[in-house]
Amino acid sequence: MIVSPSIMTADFMNLAREIGIVERSGTQWLHLDVMDGNFVPNISFGPKLISDARSLFPSLFFDAHLMVNEPDGLLDAFAKAGCSCLTVHPEAIRDVERTIALIKALGMKAGVSIKPSTSVEAIRDLLDKVSLVLVMSVEPGFGGQAFMPDMAEKVRELKSLRGKRDYLISIDGGISRANLGLVRSAGCDVAVVGSAFFKEADPSSFVRFAESL
Ligand code: DX5
Ligand code: ZN
Repeated sequence: MIVSPSIMTADFMNLAREIGIVERSGTQWLHLDVMDGNFVPNISFGPKLISDARSLFPSLFFDAHLMVNEPDGLLDAFAKAGCSCLTVHPEAIRDVERTIALIKALGMKAGVSIKPSTSVEAIRDLLDKVSLVLVMSVEPGFGGQAFMPDMAEKVRELKSLRGKRDYLISIDGGISRANLGLVRSAGCDVAVVGSAFFKEADPSSFVRFAESL
């Protein structure tokens, strides 16, 4: 399983150092939580920070998670900033198919994420159109919350629905060494890890452990 460390819980005053830890841990992925203070009750950062990070880290896969209402007007800025994949919330967007098409037209991979109260059924029609499905296992907005074990069932459902489609299944919120095995056995391909990653004494052993599952 791939680890996508979320810098939401990193030290923003030392971000270059923190992302350096991510790069040296051996993973290729970096999870970027963009929050608008509207769809979620918190504000994080936007394209400028991502663009600056991109200049220092040209080869990481930038896995951006947009917790933003109606983001269409910002997609171009995120593409220019160097995002590899943009994952959006259907709960935040009137015409999410259009948003997904715009993301792909800008040359990025498109993902879709569901909050704990949103069912897999609600995004069934989108599964053919995305490269990643992100299951939230906490209410989006903050790092450091407790994992909701019931969300593993959605991972199982997404795995059984996948068939010949090629989306990756990702989970985000409260992931640690204690539940990596559970989410992997449910069918998860990418684990987003915030606080547990940055608290690790040995981040590369965390990545190797996840990759061995
Ligand atoms: C929550 C974010 C997560 C979060 C992960 O809204 O999408 O990516 O920062 O942090 P932990 O792993 O601490 O729950
Ligand atoms: Zn996230």
